[in-house]
Amino acid sequence: MSTTIEVYRGLVEERLADWTKALPDDPLYHRITYLLGLPAKRVRPVATLMGCALFGGDPRAALDQALGIELFHNFTLMHDDIMDQAPLRRGQPTVHTKWNTAGAILSGDALLVKAYRLMGTHPRVLPVFSQRALEVCEGQEMDMGFETSDAVGVDDYLEMIRLKTAVLLAGALEVGALRGGASEQDAQQLGRFGEHLGLAFQLRDDLLDAFGDPEKVGKRPGGDLRAGKKTFLLIRGLERSRELDRTELQEELMKGPEVRDVQRMLRVLEELGVPADTEAEVDRHHRSAIAALDAVPAAEENKTPLRALADLLLQRAH
Ligand code: IPE
Ligand code: IPE
Ligand code: MG
Ligand code: MG
Ligand code: MG
Repeated sequence: MSTTIEVYRGLVEERLADWTKALPDDPLYHRITYLLGLPAKRVRPVATLMGCALFGGDPRAALDQALGIELFHNFTLMHDDIMDQAPLRRGQPTVHTKWNTAGAILSGDALLVKAYRLMGTHPRVLPVFSQRALEVCEGQEMDMGFETSDAVGVDDYLEMIRLKTAVLLAGALEVGALRGGASEQDAQQLGRFGEHLGLAFQLRDDLLDAFGDPEKVGKRPGGDLRAGKKTFLLIRGLERSRELDRTELQEELMKGPEVRDVQRMLRVLEELGVPADTEAEVDRHHRSAIAALDAVPAAEENKTPLRALADLLLQRAH
């Protein structure tokens, strides 16, 4: 028997395939079709359908918005990979390395416009989506600023990932809830579940970037450490290093990215117990997410798929 997640993912894939098939035969759109065609989890559009069904709506009624959310997400990835100078995405060359940066900027822009077209058709959806979309940009700006700052603490980091990652998952759920007929207030409560889940999701992303199986993760192994990204791992690692008078991480950060010994950084992080600290933080947000879901005034049996989604994201290996 298929799970709700599988069924909804099937609906999303079908809608996406139809949508890409109708795109004009032009490089602007070839780059979009390429990125959308690489294997992806489709977490956000699935969440939109679940948000709709939670409040008794027909999930199919939210398919346009689910597609819009996935297009927006892929727009952020196309531009994020330029910003992060990432060579790989979903196990394949990033759009700007396969084509060029100008092309990736432009195809990203086109994706954003296409996303807005889909989200703009519904008056209750547009303000929520616009707010969340803007917050993602604010989070990405903070993320970039952190690369050159020495004074980034765990709280700064959590606010940054709330903005760059968690709010989009929250927005995906809120938009679905609104399409399902939820009140603004109930949609916001579901959004709180999404924010905590999104924080856990990005913490897991940071862990996988450093310690995941590169085959499964589909990104350059240790890319964040090489780039000196202030992820939870590095912030916590630097904190622990100061407490214990260890200098290896600082030494590596003084070097340029390409000569940085990422393997050494990984060993040190392990010795400092950083992966376990990160797992504990993931767990904390997972529990907060579940508490927020418990507080949503909707039928308990309708919450089962959302609980399954949370569990899946907690265990994910890619
Ligand atoms: C990647 O998102 C960007 C982050 C916010 C971590 P996903 O991990 O959902 O990527 P895909 O869409 O499944 O490839
Ligand atoms: C993702 O952050 C945030 C957005 C794309 C908005 P990351 O830079 O950590 O995502 P990955 O690891 O490249 O997927
Ligand atoms: Mg990135
Ligand atoms: Mg990034
Ligand atoms: Mg990452």
